[in-house]
Amino acid sequence: MDLIAIVGLMTIIYTLVYMIFPWFLDCDLNLAFHERFGKPISSLKDKVVWIIGASSGIGEHLAYVLAENGCKLILSARRETELERVKNNCLQRNANLKSCDIEVLVLDIRDLDKHEPAFNSIIAKFGKLDILVNNAGQSQRALWENIEISVDREMFDLNVFSPIALSRLVAKYFFKMNAGHFVVTSSIAGIIEVPFSATYCANKFALHGYYKTLGIETLDKNISITMACPGPLYTDFLAKAFTGKSNEVS
Ligand SMILES: *[C@@H]1O[C@H](CO)[C@@H](O)[C@H](O)[C@H]1NC(C)=O
Repeated sequence: MDLIAIVGLMTIIYTLVYMIFPWFLDCDLNLAFHERFGKPISSLKDKVVWIIGASSGIGEHLAYVLAENGCKLILSARRETELERVKNNCLQRNANLKSCDIEVLVLDIRDLDKHEPAFNSIIAKFGKLDILVNNAGQSQRALWENIEISVDREMFDLNVFSPIALSRLVAKYFFKMNAGHFVVTSSIAGIIEVPFSATYCANKFALHGYYKTLGIETLDKNISITMACPGPLYTDFLAKAFTGKSNEVS
């Protein structure tokens, strides 16, 4: 077989693999490979994980999986009763966890002045922080031309600037420890454009810009960054989305 035929054959195989496997998978090939052959979740046992946006959806269910695997958790969001509910569910799922292993820390991520006291209270209580999960955020349904600039500002504040401010604070600590892991809930809308969510897409693209730059600046450091890019999910995430107008939810 000559070179061109080999390249042609490999192209066909590559295309077939990428056409066939997605029918059986709930994620891309790279993630599926790591899920099957990578480190098991149980290797996270005893890690201290701070989840921002832990009261519902992805954050809530991530808390359950991490609790089952013996992580210590700090659950943050605005709604205390919801966080207490998530905490109780976590404790039910792993009888080895004690109540003091799961901390409810009420926080509005937009309240930047609260970041440092919140972070300090975690270090005082748990002695360390291994993983920060930036999962808070709100989506949008609006026509591009109707979005008021005040909505763009509000959304960038909640979905971009607030998690970035918190990450900068935590980054300094991670650098000092020469260890740490940022997990960021992005979206499929952080990779390709999704209609009727212009600001939301821009928010997610911006997050990729910020964290990819951090990734380059920390090549010589022991810092991991994971951008999670889920597609459509069964959560109540769209129950309260931004629209084009301020003070309106769809
Ligand atoms: C890198 O970080 C991991 C935890 O994220 C830690 O287990 C490991 O010891 C660190 N490596 C170095 C060289 O500091």
